[in-house]
Amino acid sequence: MTDIDVLLEEHRKFKPPETFARNANVRSAEIYERAAKDYEGFWAECARELEWSKPFTKVLEWAPPRSKWFADGELNASVSCVDRHARGERANKAAIIWEGEPGDTRTLTYAELLDEVCRFASVLDSLGVEKGDRVSIYLPMIPEAAIAMLACARVGAVHSVVFGGFSAESLRDRIVDAGAKVLITADGGFRRGQVVPLKKNADDAVAQTPTIEHVVVVRRTEKPIGGTEASMKAGRDKWWHELMAKASPTRAPTAVNAEDILFTLYTSGTTGKPKGIVHTTGGYLTQCAVTTRMIFDLKESDVYWCTADVGWVTGHSYIVYGPLANGATCMMYEGAPDWPEKDRFWALCEKYGVTIFYTAPTAIRAFMKWGAQHAEKHDLSKLRLLGSVGEPINPEAWMWYRENIGGNRCPIVDTWWQTETGATMISPLPGITETTPGSATVAFPGITAELLDDNAKPIKVGGGLLAITKPWPGMLRTIWGDDERYVKTYFSKWPGRPDLYFPGDGAKRDEDGNFWILGRVDDVLNVAGHRIGTMEVESALVDHHAVAEAAVVGKAHDLKGQAIAAFVTLREGINATPELLAELRDHVGTKIGAIAKPDDIIFSADLPKTRSGKIMRRLLRDIAEGRALGDTTTLADPAVVAALKDQYESIEG
Ligand code: WTA
Repeated sequence: MTDIDVLLEEHRKFKPPETFARNANVRSAEIYERAAKDYEGFWAECARELEWSKPFTKVLEWAPPRSKWFADGELNASVSCVDRHARGERANKAAIIWEGEPGDTRTLTYAELLDEVCRFASVLDSLGVEKGDRVSIYLPMIPEAAIAMLACARVGAVHSVVFGGFSAESLRDRIVDAGAKVLITADGGFRRGQVVPLKKNADDAVAQTPTIEHVVVVRRTEKPIGGTEASMKAGRDKWWHELMAKASPTRAPTAVNAEDILFTLYTSGTTGKPKGIVHTTGGYLTQCAVTTRMIFDLKESDVYWCTADVGWVTGHSYIVYGPLANGATCMMYEGAPDWPEKDRFWALCEKYGVTIFYTAPTAIRAFMKWGAQHAEKHDLSKLRLLGSVGEPINPEAWMWYRENIGGNRCPIVDTWWQTETGATMISPLPGITETTPGSATVAFPGITAELLDDNAKPIKVGGGLLAITKPWPGMLRTIWGDDERYVKTYFSKWPGRPDLYFPGDGAKRDEDGNFWILGRVDDVLNVAGHRIGTMEVESALVDHHAVAEAAVVGKAHDLKGQAIAAFVTLREGINATPELLAELRDHVGTKIGAIAKPDDIIFSADLPKTRSGKIMRRLLRDIAEGRALGDTTTLADPAVVAALKDQYESIEG
């Protein structure tokens, strides 16, 4: 049974503000019909916005589950993202405005960015990197990360960025899987005033990776934590600045086929080894560019800030490729949101006049927990659009974001997508879509999303499995080195239907046709025969004024099959009391019904999260059911879950 019960009712609606709608990049809903009527034509038109050295004549070849887009065209991603702006009116426009955690700054115009990208492309040549070779990138959030990615693209090499917060072992596994020839890292990076020892981790990793020939090291911290001269291994390690100083500032782009690989990016599945998601060039860049322009309503004068790390797909698509393909000015910030104070993001928004701000629900809930006073200290009046990505956003967090950051005037775009989809799939278009807190609304033009039951029967209104029913340009092409797993994971949910992509998420659809993502289907609860999405119970808890964040899991129960256990983080200044506990249970009862009242509520200062900020419910299930903890290697802070386990056991015991 895959029907998911629909519990939460949310009826607040927000129309696009009139002036926003009048000036928006997309002003008419007619675009949806146009894209539906001629779906290949729509994507071809979007693709023609890029610069092609050899124009494509074919649009889509679809042999389920394999797609090729624009397959006889040739281009180079760095040309669309840099050269064409640097050679025109945007030459002196800021491409990247960067601030380090300690407060140091750097601005790169498009002309300067081109110079840097060409130089590093020349460096890659000198290190023997050829078209199709893999290059691993393990850097902090510094401009060199974007430069390195674009330089790889320029020489036709495949970049594989590994998040700078990952350990030496995680880095090693990803380098080995990719068979990378060169690793680009830094002596360290700043995080909450501390130095992250990147070079030391890189050394430990490379000691066990037979394919790495060279390590290029950016001097960032100059702190003697593995990043000293002494740690530079002769012949293997080279300083970035030394190589760049003598590198040629011109380097012609290598034309690649639209279906040549642009990058691989590892995503941890719920089980087993990380998957190297493979993205190709033409289709991926097309979807990144058009979604950035339409969903963020990007204009020439905008200062656009996506707070993700380049180590995640959001950083690839919406810090580097999408915005730069549009010639945007992008903010980039190295460090933590609460360093040195909890108002750092808002100080940055004020200082640089940020107009478009894109972040994750986990960050929004942290801001809620810390309180609105931090944002109130700053002038955020330049902001005109807010975005959210990465997890379902609870309606109360959405409202908090709208009121306290967006001044009740900025439209919010809640964008649903995945590493595998390459770019946004479900989202409002801010000039035309009426939004409602908690719903990512409808599929982007040219994307076909549906809710299906187990037998691939569409569910018009209600809860079910999210499916993408037609290929799209930015879709993953395979899993690096494991094509079988590609077919099995994404195209085998509905037997005999290799044309249906299963993203692994449950969702509901309301009468207006809006999608509400309910969370991973692996996390769905089954209470007395009712299948309940984690998102709805969590949102009912977050709806209470005392609560900042909640994670809900099912634990085995003799009668009901599963009972609900809730882990709850309170807003700053609020005390956990037995009265509050009873009040929260009742609150869930009134909000969505007695069936969803949690049996256990555990107050916790923090919740276990992946390093990209997603709540790890699997570990909470282990705690709630008194099991030994499963794999904790992808946790941001393993101490959180150890403490919770002790706490839970002392309550239970
Ligand atoms: C979840 C991040 C609800 C979802 C771009 C998806 C979301 C997974 C949303 C992909 C959203 C992402 N609303 N859920 N707006 N955005 N998700 O690969 O479960 O890090 O399948 O890509 O995050 O995470 P990934």
